[in-house]
Amino acid sequence: MTRQRLVVLASGTGSLFNALVQAQDSLGADVVALVVDAPVPAMDIAQAAGISVHVVPMTTDRNVWDSQMRATLDALDPDLVISAGFMRVIGAQVLEAFEGRIINTHPALLPLFPGAHAVRDALAAGVKVTGASVHFVDAGVDTGPVISQSVISVVPGDDENSLHERIKTAERSMIVDVVRDVVAGKVRYDDGKVVTL
Ligand code: GAR
Repeated sequence: MTRQRLVVLASGTGSLFNALVQAQDSLGADVVALVVDAPVPAMDIAQAAGISVHVVPMTTDRNVWDSQMRATLDALDPDLVISAGFMRVIGAQVLEAFEGRIINTHPALLPLFPGAHAVRDALAAGVKVTGASVHFVDAGVDTGPVISQSVISVVPGDDENSLHERIKTAERSMIVDVVRDVVAGKVRYDDGKVVTL
């Protein structure tokens, strides 16, 4: 059977991207490209692994960026697009082409604490537990249907960095498990909902 093509989107250090790269053999899929919105450390991981890197910088007009992202992804022909630490909202043109085939990982228990500062917001709210969510992407900000979640306790003395590092440890195994299930057809998106076989 043909191995599926995974394209990962990232904006930071890329530790989640690296988890997917390391897991490729067990996923039955290949990470064929990394798409970033700026020069970021994740690119070094891709280059060391021989994975192509595509930089699509944000433009003044978001629609132009969206169409450049769409053209980049169309050319890469992915079966699945994985937003793993990508700090941009996916645009309508990309969604139109890839709806149901884009997943995102987010460092909070959605629907709590959506947006770019999830860990900080959870700490500020004084919650005793937070976590991570992997979900299919829809037109909203972190609103798509949730596939899997991990719960992480907030411990005394936690700051944003220490809590985020514990969340990311859980995220790395969760994103690999979810991608494996989606590639295997055990989890899919249907009309705004998650269907699990
Ligand atoms: C992860 O915690 C991911 O959930 C988060 O960025 C981190 C990336 O870590 N994404 C968001 O906050 C998106 N709203 P990494 O750069 O080490 O892979």
